[in-house]
Amino acid sequence: MVSSENTELVVVGTVHHVPTPEALEVLANVAVVVNNAGVISAVLPADSPAADEAVRRAKTVVRLGQYERLMPGLIDTHVHAPQWPQLGTGLDLPLEKWLFDYTFPLEAKYADAAFAQSVWSHMVPTFLRHGTTTSVYYATVDTHSTTLLAQTCVEHGQRAYVGRVAMDHPEGTPEWYRDATAQQGIEASQRSIEEIHALAGNTGLVSPIVTPRFIPACSDELLAGLGELASRTNTLVQTHCSESHWEHGYVLERYGRTDTEMLKYFGLLKQGTVLAHGVHIGNTDYDIIKEVHAGVAHCPMSNSYFANGVFPARRVLGLGVHVGLGTDISAGTDVGLMKQCVHAVTSSRMLEDGVNGVDGGVENSRIDIVAAFYMATTGGARMLGLNAGVIAVGNHFDAIVVSTAASDSGLRVYDDVDGEERIFEKIVRLSGPRDISHIWVAGKRIK
Ligand code: GUN
Ligand code: FE
Repeated sequence: MVSSENTELVVVGTVHHVPTPEALEVLANVAVVVNNAGVISAVLPADSPAADEAVRRAKTVVRLGQYERLMPGLIDTHVHAPQWPQLGTGLDLPLEKWLFDYTFPLEAKYADAAFAQSVWSHMVPTFLRHGTTTSVYYATVDTHSTTLLAQTCVEHGQRAYVGRVAMDHPEGTPEWYRDATAQQGIEASQRSIEEIHALAGNTGLVSPIVTPRFIPACSDELLAGLGELASRTNTLVQTHCSESHWEHGYVLERYGRTDTEMLKYFGLLKQGTVLAHGVHIGNTDYDIIKEVHAGVAHCPMSNSYFANGVFPARRVLGLGVHVGLGTDISAGTDVGLMKQCVHAVTSSRMLEDGVNGVDGGVENSRIDIVAAFYMATTGGARMLGLNAGVIAVGNHFDAIVVSTAASDSGLRVYDDVDGEERIFEKIVRLSGPRDISHIWVAGKRIK
């Protein structure tokens, strides 16, 4: 039964979502009922008496047209917010040089709050227009700019996890962009958690996340202290893990153990930990990741530049490990996660076929657009422990409407040719922000 007294919104139309990596689910002509907490309270056949009743009581009713589909909002599980001004540039260097030559100098500029605010105010609404209803952000070492990012997400209504970046290693970081000591890094990270929780208007939309940048940038004391902080404050963790040959090799050389093993050792690998990239994570590491219910943020475009390999998405999904999708801005240059779905499929095909006969390829590696969209929605939500990703009772109403009627992107439905599965594939492969007519986060319409 619908508890109808607090029905805020009813959206009537056809839903496309992907509850498991294997299959698209189409809910044809349903009424999605959203309560005043922004949570889905019922999904009813649109022509049922219960739906009629919900429509009568709702403050707002949105009826989709023949060429519109309701879909879950996209969850970008890996974004470097301060890299926004270098989006589209600077990908000529390998990761370890790119960080020092381009990225750390740019991130250091966020000590200037006015600069930080000018970037956040452009970036956050742009993500929303691309249908990204949740972002998992790395902010900067600067605590104030990190809080400003969280505040900007609250103001624009984007669900977000915002992490103050911790990094103190005397060789892995420049002395002009680092925590002066491990202790100062831990204290600043704790302050950031407190400030984000205390933000005016933040009723749980924006959460802090403990963010050691990656092992090469952090001392043992900092890593251990952040593990303890995450556990004591019950906060999620994000970091980079086994991204490239250099990074994976660095950790093996420093400890004689893998990234995954060391993150576990420092208390940083736990339920909900987001491990970015993970291209070189090994099978025994996956046993650990699965056991603790952590997951991987797969960033396919960025991996083409920095990772020296293709993330084996199909194999890892098959292990039952959580996998979300990430843009990894600015090492990935596409803002929208729909484009990352295409990159995920494309790179999986290259992994399967091999490259120009030099590498024979890896059988059974291809994923399809359905599995990619699973990662961009349900996979990310499950990794984060977020009730979202599918349009189902009890989940936050974080959703978008995509129109296939008026696009200049080549997205067009031909009634004689296109069934629902092809419409879905066309939407994911071809749609852009101009095709997204409605965006809701927690039931609230975003302009
Ligand atoms: N490893 C440590 N920092 C970064 C970063 O900013 N981008 C990527 N892709 N990898 C990293
Ligand atoms: Fe990254």
